[in-house]
Amino acid sequence: MPEPTPESLQQKIEERLRYYEDLGIRLFYRDRRGSPISTGGSHPEISKEPVVRAAREIIVPKPIELPNAVVTRPLERIEPVISPSGPSLFEAVDKVADDTLPKIREDIGDCTRCKLHKGRHKIVFGDGSAKAQLVFVGEGPGADEDAQGLPFVGRAGKLLTQMIEAMGLQRKDVYICNVVKCRPPENRAPEPDEVATCSPYLLRQIDVIQPKVIVCLGAVAAKTLLQTNRGITQFRGQWLEWRGRKLMATYHPAYLLRNPNAKGEVWKDLQKVMTELGLQLPKKKSS
Ligand code: URA
Repeated sequence: MPEPTPESLQQKIEERLRYYEDLGIRLFYRDRRGSPISTGGSHPEISKEPVVRAAREIIVPKPIELPNAVVTRPLERIEPVISPSGPSLFEAVDKVADDTLPKIREDIGDCTRCKLHKGRHKIVFGDGSAKAQLVFVGEGPGADEDAQGLPFVGRAGKLLTQMIEAMGLQRKDVYICNVVKCRPPENRAPEPDEVATCSPYLLRQIDVIQPKVIVCLGAVAAKTLLQTNRGITQFRGQWLEWRGRKLMATYHPAYLLRNPNAKGEVWKDLQKVMTELGLQLPKKKSS
């Protein structure tokens, strides 16, 4: 029997795992043979026992070798994101003539297309201006959003609101939505089939709004729109081209709640967005 891990160390491990989760590295598996832990690859001898939420043993995360990673170019000039192989998630999405946000909401209806409907209270469609120049895309509703039917109204949402206001805007000036419109149980990341089912509606929302800039909040949004396996740290803060629009990925506000030191980086990203939108940057304090 392995020695139980002291609680303080357990806490540190849990924090570290959450950090990896925020970077989009979610599953860590324990090797039952007792050799070092690796992240969720497909090794047949590694048991698929998720230990992210309850780290009871010491885990040494190794960087994931990601197959089929998309080359997401740093953009001084904006260049297209290169798709890896096979059709993009969005290629199957037909253009809807004279599409509107109410039409998309109507098409979603009382959706039961994926398993997320089983645990949801309210569908969280999106909120804000249909003419917004700036769209924020999050991951999926949490408990507060599920209860109210509105995106980003919980703790992370309050921080997002503050960020929007720091940019000199109000929530009603932008549009806020998520990759999936129903709350994943226990706030787990949406699974690929859920993303595949729901994200065409996101695509339609963005196509209707035609924003100048899309900001992806966190790895799930970025990976979904860019169709990449790359970790968000590799392209965070860089201008990318997405279907003819400018896209920037930054950290999710929930990540900032746990890692306030990263707020400066996000603020720098948002200042780039402000410049792009012609918003006035805050004056530098003179010393
Ligand atoms: N986190 C998200 O990604 N979306 C929300 O709407 C709320 C929290």
